[in-house]
Amino acid sequence: MADPLKRRDEEMAALEEVFRYAERYLGALAESPVLPGGATHLGTSLPEGGNGAVAALTELIASAGAATRSSGPRFFHFVTGGTTPAALGADWLTSLLDQNSFSWVSSPLGSELEDVAIRWLLELFDLPESWGGVLTTGATMANFVGLGAGRRWWAQEHGVDVDEQGFAGLPAVPVLSTPYIHASALKALTMLGIGRGSVQIAEADELARNLEALGGAPAIMIGNAGEVNAGYFDPISPLADLAEEHGAWLHVDGAFGLFARLAPETFELSAGVERARSVIADGHKWLNVPYDCGFAFVRDRSALPKTFGLAAAYLPDDERPNYGYSSPEASRRARALAVWATLRAYGRAGYREMVERHLALAQRLGRRVEAEAQLELLAPVGLNIVCFRFRPPGFDEPALDLLNSALGEDVLADGRVFVGTTRYDNKVAFRPAIVNWRTTERDVDLLVDVVLELGARRAAAVD
Ligand SMILES: Cc1ncc(COP(=O)(O)O)c(C=O)c1O
Repeated sequence: MADPLKRRDEEMAALEEVFRYAERYLGALAESPVLPGGATHLGTSLPEGGNGAVAALTELIASAGAATRSSGPRFFHFVTGGTTPAALGADWLTSLLDQNSFSWVSSPLGSELEDVAIRWLLELFDLPESWGGVLTTGATMANFVGLGAGRRWWAQEHGVDVDEQGFAGLPAVPVLSTPYIHASALKALTMLGIGRGSVQIAEADELARNLEALGGAPAIMIGNAGEVNAGYFDPISPLADLAEEHGAWLHVDGAFGLFARLAPETFELSAGVERARSVIADGHKWLNVPYDCGFAFVRDRSALPKTFGLAAAYLPDDERPNYGYSSPEASRRARALAVWATLRAYGRAGYREMVERHLALAQRLGRRVEAEAQLELLAPVGLNIVCFRFRPPGFDEPALDLLNSALGEDVLADGRVFVGTTRYDNKVAFRPAIVNWRTTERDVDLLVDVVLELGARRAAAVD
């Protein structure tokens, strides 16, 4: 019996299965190994006869134990937020209501909440309330939105509507940034037809020279508010000065760094962001809403419908802005429910407190690293990322790189804490990022203990 209509009596029972599992899962999340392993039994070929919702969910839940505990407090890899109780509940509700946040006709609720969410987020980040914005799947697509608006502006400076006519007859788009540029901005440039190879990378204080070399031609400049190795910021105010002086479009990637604006002690790092033309951040990082969620903000709110508008006889022509006409997607999940709920539940003060706790945890981690003879802090801790390596005596630089790479794999396989490695200052290094609302001092201390324990074992094995 396969037709869902014939199995509709299972609806509540299926949800109850998930609810019961949630109780077990969340109850154990704080102490679970990040990589529990465990077998999955999900089959290899498409079943001809279905087994119904309850049985299917029971099977799925039996394999869900294998899920990475990436929403738990010890997942320091990448920049990975958890999900607050309010956001998780709202996300479940989002699936229940299954709204298409494409337009006011398809979802007045989703559209209104997105209006409110964008307004609240602008306020949270202390950005001008006159700006527009849109929710996206993440920072990559938010970069795509901001840079798409920039591309439109750039072509208009050449007298061309690029969204209407394409690039034919236009020169290459000059894009300037610093070594902090994130791979996702390059990806966005690729998707926009600008090409990742078009970016001129220079240190921030050398960008003036690059702009002057353009002889007044319009350009796009990408400022980076929070890079992934050590949480560093480009000096955004001087970049804004340059953009104003040379008439460039300044786009700022603040995927997680924009949250520096929530804490008085780090606000200054992002000073000048409010002078950019487009600014982006992620929701599934420091806001702690579930995957997937990001935001793009633009100074000129009319830029979004001009870039991402669409029209057809059967589609609504609404006075109020339809978000499906301001974003890369047309049909869209109502991400605003989770954003709204978490901001409603914890408010500006709750988020400030969480960010300040994370800043303090990063400082604590930095101090512990400095206090341990076998660890080396590689960069001052300015935000929420701590860049360090294991450095026992008797290893030269190439050997230290090999040791830290192998140790990185050991740490991931061990799974008590989860932290990735990078290359920083030409050295293999750990770069734990703290953005999960559940993370406490115990979790951060465990990270150091695990690295030291496994490091000693690995160093002994190599010796
Ligand atoms: C600075 C920065 N920009 C953009 C991104 C891409 O974000 P997403 O994976 O949400 O698309 C990241 C992800 O870590 C990031 O750190």
